[in-house]
Amino acid sequence: MNRAICREALVTAGLLREPWLRQAFDTVDREAFVPAAVWLDVLDEEGRWTFVDRDEDPEAWRRAVWNPYRSVITQLNDGAVARGPSAGDFTSSVSAPDIVMRKLQHLDLRVNARVLEIGYGSGYHTALLCERVGEERVVAVEVDEEVARTGASQLAAAGYEPELIVGDGLCGAPGGGPFDRVINTAALRRVPYAWIEQSRRSGVILTPFGTAYSNAGLLKLRVDGTGTRAQGRFVGESSYMWIRSQRPTVDLRVPEASTSRSSPVDPAQVLGLGHLQDFAIGLQVPDVSYSHQGEGPARRVQFVDEAGTSATIVRYGDWWAQDAVRCWGPRDVWAEVTAAYTWYELQGRPHLTRFGITAGQDGQFAWLDEPGRLVGS
Ligand SMILES: C[S@@+](CC[C@H](N)C(=O)[O-])C[C@H]1O[C@@H](n2cnc3c(N)ncnc32)[C@H](O)[C@@H]1O
Repeated sequence: MNRAICREALVTAGLLREPWLRQAFDTVDREAFVPAAVWLDVLDEEGRWTFVDRDEDPEAWRRAVWNPYRSVITQLNDGAVARGPSAGDFTSSVSAPDIVMRKLQHLDLRVNARVLEIGYGSGYHTALLCERVGEERVVAVEVDEEVARTGASQLAAAGYEPELIVGDGLCGAPGGGPFDRVINTAALRRVPYAWIEQSRRSGVILTPFGTAYSNAGLLKLRVDGTGTRAQGRFVGESSYMWIRSQRPTVDLRVPEASTSRSSPVDPAQVLGLGHLQDFAIGLQVPDVSYSHQGEGPARRVQFVDEAGTSATIVRYGDWWAQDAVRCWGPRDVWAEVTAAYTWYELQGRPHLTRFGITAGQDGQFAWLDEPGRLVGS
């Protein structure tokens, strides 16, 4: 795997149609932005992420760098893991070339645009932006100090000097706007008003978007004429690591007492049918997450709300039994999830690109086809 093969794969996928993207891909050397020690999103036999050191295995490292479809992981657990094969959460990466190019195509970036990038990480994507609009029109924010230091030095070594801010990208770049484009490179659940405020009227905000239930959509919002609201549809799929302060976490503190009932539907129909269905259900129950436990006849799924006050466990093997669903706390989370599933079925299982979000100062809401048609209603 090398640069030429990666290029061909991107061309074949229609992702280098725009001349500036071809030129930027050819000019910015991805190898200059990938550290020597990285992880791959490939598990080894012991269930740990594969570790690659360029000095020990330059070929494997180069294959990883130029894989068109895979990101290269540069940090696990916010930097708690130094080196070597390891389990852990991905907390920084050099995103895969195909999603980088896909997003840049959606961004519709004009030469004179002023751009805000959130999560500059290695700086590779920042360098591509600089190639298009010039470094003086790019502002990039990274939350992790160590990652930011590495990214800044890689950018400087490659000859790019955009404005770099170390801090929480959810605050944008106060005083740095107005921006024509805001491009986020980590998944979020709530669109920050700061990005709308710092955007120009008609500006575009492009961000991976998910819910506690599912992390799957690429959202393209356009700021309206008042400059106080942004609205738009999902334009495709994306799977990014979470923006740091919006990672779904649960501190479970449900009461001991529970109630039992049967389920009206096989959980395998509601879960297990793919990420697009999960995405649509998640838009309706955005604060609910689930995890599976057990195998075979003992298999069950647990749902919890983000406040940690309600939980429901549903058994797969005999979901029709009188006690297959057990609920703790004030919310019957399984009833909410099945209602969301029913709504999705009744709408004819709409594709992700029919959904949209409207965001403003007072929060956000999700809709189907048009802003007046709220999800779940
Ligand atoms: C998937 S990496 C993207 C790196 C790079 N932009 C790319 O596309 O190759 C996401 C980056 O977002 C950063 N990040 C997470 N939360 C952030 C926040 N609140 N503000 C700024 N950066 C954040 C992470 O530290 C990580 O470096």
